[in-house]
Amino acid sequence: MNSRGRFITLEGGEGAGKSTLLKGLHDHLLQRGVTLLQVREPGGTALGEAIRSIVLDPSHPDISAESELLLMFAARAQLVRERILPALTAGQWVLCDRYVDASYAYQGAGRGQPQERIAELERWACAGLKADLTLLLDLPVSTGRARAAGRGAADRIETEADAFFERVRQAYRERAEAEPQRFHVIDASQSPDNVLQAAIAAVDHVFEANS
Ligand SMILES: Nc1ncnc2c1ncn2[C@@H]1O[C@H](COP(=O)(O)OP(=O)(O)OP(=O)(O)O)[C@@H](O)[C@H]1O
Ligand SMILES: [Mg+2]
Repeated sequence: MNSRGRFITLEGGEGAGKSTLLKGLHDHLLQRGVTLLQVREPGGTALGEAIRSIVLDPSHPDISAESELLLMFAARAQLVRERILPALTAGQWVLCDRYVDASYAYQGAGRGQPQERIAELERWACAGLKADLTLLLDLPVSTGRARAAGRGAADRIETEADAFFERVRQAYRERAEAEPQRFHVIDASQSPDNVLQAAIAAVDHVFEANS
């Protein structure tokens, strides 16, 4: 009989190296014989990818903070039910590029939506699903923005001012401090290989605790 898989989320600001790390972690877990689903937020389902193209499209500058929050949770509710929960139930591990912490950081601290409102949406939309481990890639805003700028045109959220991303970074750090048993903070200014080794150490700790 399969035991439930483990749910690992990656968080951090723009250009922190989440997508880069996911590739390395994916390979590492495969080598350990773990069956794996890798998804990203917003996205990961047909509905979620359609929502992603709307919320990240810079030609929609008029999307309200309330609408953005609801769209993020609409995508998340679908992703949890359609892909993440079935995979975990089948014993697969799930690696997710951003999850609910991103809404507290971006729509909460960034856009000023009340934390209690986000918590209410979380209870309702996430079906009680919390990450087993959250890897927070922490990086000065300027470094992350310089990295992300190398990738070409900015999306709608990337066009925000530095102050927005400073609030996002601070919110992530506060969440990590409040839940040290779930979060593992990684200094993302290190080389990609050092970031990967730090992540592997954290993941293997969870792996061993649950194998
Ligand atoms: N540790 C690192 N040191 C230097 N450069 C890095 C590091 N990790 C990633 N990069 C580079 O920085 C850029 C952004 O990395 P990546 O796309 O992985 O970030 P991200 O967190 O996924 O960004 P986004 O939030 O915008 O999706 C890429 O060009 C990547 O090659
Ligand atoms: Mg990315």
